[in-house]
Amino acid sequence: MDTAHELLDIARLIASETAALIRDGRSGARVHATKSSAIDIVTQMDLAAEAHLRERLSQLRPDDGILGEEGEDTAGSSGVTWILDPIDGTVNYLYGLPHYAVSVAAVTGPPRPREWSALAGAVADGSGVLWSAARGGGAFRDGRPLRREDAPPLESTLLATGFQYVAQRRERQGEIVTSMLGQVRDIRRLGAASVDLCLVAAGAIDAYYEHGLHAWDFAAAALIAQEAGVKVAGLDGGAADERVLVAAHPDVWDDLAHALVRAGAETTWDARRA
Ligand code: IPD
Repeated sequence: MDTAHELLDIARLIASETAALIRDGRSGARVHATKSSAIDIVTQMDLAAEAHLRERLSQLRPDDGILGEEGEDTAGSSGVTWILDPIDGTVNYLYGLPHYAVSVAAVTGPPRPREWSALAGAVADGSGVLWSAARGGGAFRDGRPLRREDAPPLESTLLATGFQYVAQRRERQGEIVTSMLGQVRDIRRLGAASVDLCLVAAGAIDAYYEHGLHAWDFAAAALIAQEAGVKVAGLDGGAADERVLVAAHPDVWDDLAHALVRAGAETTWDARRA
């Protein structure tokens, strides 16, 4: 059986390599296609980065499955699946903002949130920081352990969130943010879910929530945050999935979840149907 640490080494290696590749290609990045709406973009570097990740996994882990944002799902025979976001925060990447990342997770079990068990994850961000974790082995920022010891109360929470790309969903998300604004210290929309979660792990922001993330947006970073002591869960308290993900220190998680429900957050809102 593979150890989570063996998978972690590979996740760190290929996430770092791919981060270097996209950093080098950034000045030439152009919109290649759109997805769920005209503002949901794919650059040619998203495709090149995913191709690189897949190529490396075919060399290093040929029997594993792959679920990537920009490619076809590949079934494996080993029981391990890699969940890949070649560029999380593509809009920031295109605009030259540093809040983007390559996200690589290894999971066991069916590659569906709530059914998988994340074994290892790495997030290599556009500032050059490598965030990582292995199940039961703690979380790390550039090799230094991360631990969230405490949290301010909800009214002093610096809360991050994000938005989907479909207009009707964004308008609804905007209404919820408006309602949350008066209940917390302030709100940030930084533009890359994986980095947001890592910043919660580091205590650089206090908490984060978002409706309708995809598995590749959070698979690695949710493990990193959890291993740092952050509660990452769905609004109903179960494992996070593509509906509403809430990440906060356990001392404040319930208060945040209740505030989100009062603000109109819906447990049934699913990215796969957005
Ligand atoms: C997006 C980012 C963004 C979040 C969106 C995601 P992408 O990922 O993580 O912060 O708000 O929901 O789709 O499209 O840049 O890979």
